[in-house]
Amino acid sequence: MSVSRYRSQLRQSAAERRAETHPLTWRLGEDGAMVGLGEYLDKDGYVAARKVLNHQSPDDVVATMKDANVRGRGGAGFSAGMKWSLTMKGQDIPRGYLVCNADEMEPGTFKDRLLLEQLPHLLIEGMIIGGYANHSRFGYIFLRGEYVEAARALARAIDEARAAGWLGNDIADSGYDFDIALHTGAGRYICGEETALINSLEGNRANPRAKPPFPGQSGAWGKPTVVNNVETFCNAPAVMLHGARWYQDLSGELSNDGGTKLYGVSGKVAMPGLWELPIGTSGSELLERAGGMRDGRALKAWLPGGGSTGFLLPEHLDAPLDFDTIGELGSRMGTGLLTVVNEDQSVLSLVRNLEQFFARESCGWCTPCRDGLPWTVKILQALEHGEGERGDLEMLDKLGGDLGPGKTFCAHAPGAAMPLQSALKYFREEFERGVVHPPRAAHADPIPVGVV
Ligand SMILES: Cc1cc2nc3c(=O)[nH]c(=O)nc-3n(C[C@H](O)[C@H](O)[C@H](O)COP(=O)(O)O)c2cc1C
Ligand code: SF4
Repeated sequence: MSVSRYRSQLRQSAAERRAETHPLTWRLGEDGAMVGLGEYLDKDGYVAARKVLNHQSPDDVVATMKDANVRGRGGAGFSAGMKWSLTMKGQDIPRGYLVCNADEMEPGTFKDRLLLEQLPHLLIEGMIIGGYANHSRFGYIFLRGEYVEAARALARAIDEARAAGWLGNDIADSGYDFDIALHTGAGRYICGEETALINSLEGNRANPRAKPPFPGQSGAWGKPTVVNNVETFCNAPAVMLHGARWYQDLSGELSNDGGTKLYGVSGKVAMPGLWELPIGTSGSELLERAGGMRDGRALKAWLPGGGSTGFLLPEHLDAPLDFDTIGELGSRMGTGLLTVVNEDQSVLSLVRNLEQFFARESCGWCTPCRDGLPWTVKILQALEHGEGERGDLEMLDKLGGDLGPGKTFCAHAPGAAMPLQSALKYFREEFERGVVHPPRAAHADPIPVGVV
């Protein structure tokens, strides 16, 4: 495997990353190579799983996850402990399935890829803990089809773990049985939505499902199913090993959320990459770590956590990057990977590009999404070419509103609305410049037939 082809690059030296402060990445060397079973075991690998399986009840695990306030790292920030506690309702054991969402197709996001390619055993250990807490006996990793290196690393790690007794029957002599299957997806963004993912896993078309019932009640094959993001599972071993208080303290005064975050920066910066930092670290610190703006150009705007989040401005850079604060600023923390836009770039073109992606990836179930997104793209393209019509901006406002929360079966459409609405709010004049002057209606009399 050629390490030089890595794009998900951690930009922190090994000396900076310690077990006490960098629970996700401290085991990684400088070279970007996968941490195999031997190295993982040498670095306290599977110690947390052994402790949990032999000395704690599933209820204890859920309580610790709740106390630690591990918020889901897939974008919505829902408490993992809370999710696990809801699924535990009901009597049947085993209760259902544990699913790791490794679909990672959010534009500008490349954090799970690093964990999958370089730390697959950390994910497996997190899933063993999650499976135990949820009384499930089987887990799936739903992997983005294009992540070929990750598939290779995961397949190897699953084999290694099985051969060493960390997957299969009676793990660590605890009496607990758990195994994992790797499922590669067909490369669709909507497969990342948890109920579409479940449909796809079952071999059905990847449409989201109407909720309720939520997956925790009735998910894969009608069984209670917990779906968590890769990074969320990867937090579990350290939480179980060091406790909820320790995890909470990792973010210090920066945030009410606990732990660290695998933050990233891409776009017009000198040095794109990933950093594991306390949750609540500011955008300015991230920008500094990314070497500042490329070629000395000024910052115009930034997306805080992928293409389905709202634009923020330079004045927002000092805010802590956590779920609540970024929400209060009118955007979303999302995946926590910043996309940086400079003064030379057209926000209109960026938004058109994003909406084209969202239109293509719509599953087509709801009208505002299926029809509204292509319509949005058409208007944006016209504005981009200076061929917009009077009323186009108002129509974009309306289409954005129709895509908003509560109007569609899944969060794809509200996600698509965020960059559009925030761009119209902050950069409206760019859109206005695309409207034909004078308005087309004033000079659009048809040329009479026969007149050349
Ligand atoms: C269109 C769409 C795409 C999504 N893609 C992903 C994804 O690639 N990975 C992910 O973890 N969550 C994704 N999500 C969020 C999932 O539906 C779900 O909330 C998440 O996997 C839950 O994990 P968490 O609680 O650990 O964050 C997506 C949601 C939507 C609406
Ligand atoms: S919002 Fe879009 S992607 Fe989600 S269910 Fe409706 S049509 Fe499908």
